[in-house]
Amino acid sequence: MVSYIQCDDLMKVFKLGNLEVQALRGLSMKIEQGEMIAIVGPSGSGKTTLLNIIGGLARATAGKTWIAGRDITNASNAELGKLRQKVVGHIFQTLNLIPTLTAYENVELPMLAVNTPANERKKRTTDLLERVGLTLRAKHKPDELSGGEKQRVAIVSALANDPPILICDEPTGDLDTETGAKIVRFLHEVNKEMGKTVLVVTHDPAIARQTDRIYRIMDGTIISMQKPSESAAASAALMAQMYKDRLIETNIEISGLQLMYKKQNIDAANFAERWNNLNQTKHFIEQELHRMGF
Ligand SMILES: Nc1ncnc2c1ncn2[C@@H]1O[C@H](COP(=O)(O)OP(=O)(O)O)[C@@H](O)[C@H]1O
Ligand SMILES: [Mg+2]
Repeated sequence: MVSYIQCDDLMKVFKLGNLEVQALRGLSMKIEQGEMIAIVGPSGSGKTTLLNIIGGLARATAGKTWIAGRDITNASNAELGKLRQKVVGHIFQTLNLIPTLTAYENVELPMLAVNTPANERKKRTTDLLERVGLTLRAKHKPDELSGGEKQRVAIVSALANDPPILICDEPTGDLDTETGAKIVRFLHEVNKEMGKTVLVVTHDPAIARQTDRIYRIMDGTIISMQKPSESAAASAALMAQMYKDRLIETNIEISGLQLMYKKQNIDAANFAERWNNLNQTKHFIEQELHRMGF
């Protein structure tokens, strides 16, 4: 029996001139309908590449993929286009909102692409914005919205055509308990109340801990699968590992930011904001690790 979402032995090779990058190296996983799954792993381990294949944006170099029970391994470009429009809602790490359109128009856009009648478009767009508490922000453009608000627009825009599957690439940027908690609450609502299968790539242990199962990727392959509900000890170890990964990455980001500022590639206000966020994140991770006995 094939699972609702299934990947068998996926390989993905990127060729850069005569350099080859192996982003996925024999990755296999199975997800059942109605599950909420977290995918975790260090930066560069292949998480985004995997989501792009599941979302019908990229093709694997080898291996097989089933989405909503259908084999999409050799799907045509037109079939992959349909998959993106109707079957898989995709929230990108970069959000990909259109800067010239309002929140309302960004949510409505996917419905225009599939010729949804005007009255239904209006009803769904209004309803979706209300669900995420953005009714009063409908006329704002992405630039005029906070990070958390932009994220919510991106999520409901991915839900515009009512796809049965939602995939979400790192919905919380810096670890920030309040914005992150709001997003994860909504993702649970999407999973439990709207009945969608949800896949979330995250570096936030608090999000991972609240899913049905956690797949950990390393070097393009799944190295473990856990049910947070089954083993408290195993999940604590995984959370600690995630915090450690994140601490390393945060330190790298801080060094990178300092370098950018020295080279005057970023203005003082932006620098100060990123600097504060990153240091808050770092402080938060250190506290959590300390709390866990590290
Ligand atoms: N378009 C691309 N061209 C070349 N290399 C890529 C491309 N996309 C990703 N990679 C490489 O593949 C690996 C996995 O990347 P990615 O899937 O983005 O990881 P993650 O999302 O876990 O950080 C990395 O080494 C990355 O540099
Ligand atoms: Mg990524």
